[in-house]
Amino acid sequence: MSEQYTEDLKLPQHIAIILDGNGRWAKKRKMPRGYGHIVGCDNLEKMCDIIADMGIKYLTVYAFSTENWKRSEEEVKGLMDLFRKYLKRCLKKAKRNQMRIRIIGDPSALDADIQESIRVLEESTKDYDRMFFQIALNYGGRDEIERAVTKIAEDARSGKLPEGRITGEVFEQYLDTAGIPDPDLMIRTSGELRLSNFLLWQLAYSEFYFTDVPWPDFNRDELMKAIEKYNGRDRRFGDAK
Ligand code: IPE
Ligand code: IPE
Ligand code: MG
Repeated sequence: MSEQYTEDLKLPQHIAIILDGNGRWAKKRKMPRGYGHIVGCDNLEKMCDIIADMGIKYLTVYAFSTENWKRSEEEVKGLMDLFRKYLKRCLKKAKRNQMRIRIIGDPSALDADIQESIRVLEESTKDYDRMFFQIALNYGGRDEIERAVTKIAEDARSGKLPEGRITGEVFEQYLDTAGIPDPDLMIRTSGELRLSNFLLWQLAYSEFYFTDVPWPDFNRDELMKAIEKYNGRDRRFGDAK
């Protein structure tokens, strides 16, 4: 695809991706699932640079759900080791892309050293503003809403929140994504047609794109196909044009 062609396309401001299919990709190659996660993680680094270079401002990826703890101990441990290394490498990428990193989800269930890496990464990238990269780690849309509602109840009790109706605007301030615009385009790789508890509130008016391509094979051309499709969509927000 030529650069000229790319320039003619309207880019979504915020892309959210469910990085799915690592396990099946590995199985097809008679390799353990963990190998699929390693290749998937390398691909995330590559795609993040590509997306940054395209000028897309916000990227949010689903890396580990609140339900993924149900996987085998071996797979969960492999994933945690991968996050451990990845979060350390991320600092270099953040500098390259001038991107602010935010981890969304509940970090409290993660090992202490991973929580510390998250703190360091968020703190040291807080002044970058060319791109905003959200990584969903131990994230669940329902869990995020439960945590938000709990905090709202606390703040209402202590008088921090004025009495009266909790509007959408107020509610959003309590979500992990506070301050980040809703995704314009949600991509899920590897054929499944569901949200699996991803950004339940935020995806209310996003355009969806599903592809059979598994995450480790998802590349710039596949992304361009998604953006092309997005360009053909008649975006509406309940209005009639
Ligand atoms: C996505 O790939 C990565 C995580 C959920 C951590 P999967 O591990 O879900 O791969 P499949 O869907 O089993 O192929
Ligand atoms: C969703 O994928 C979570 C991530 C990609 C991190 P899953 O593979 O866990 O979702 P289900 O089980 O197919 O719904
Ligand atoms: Mg999956």
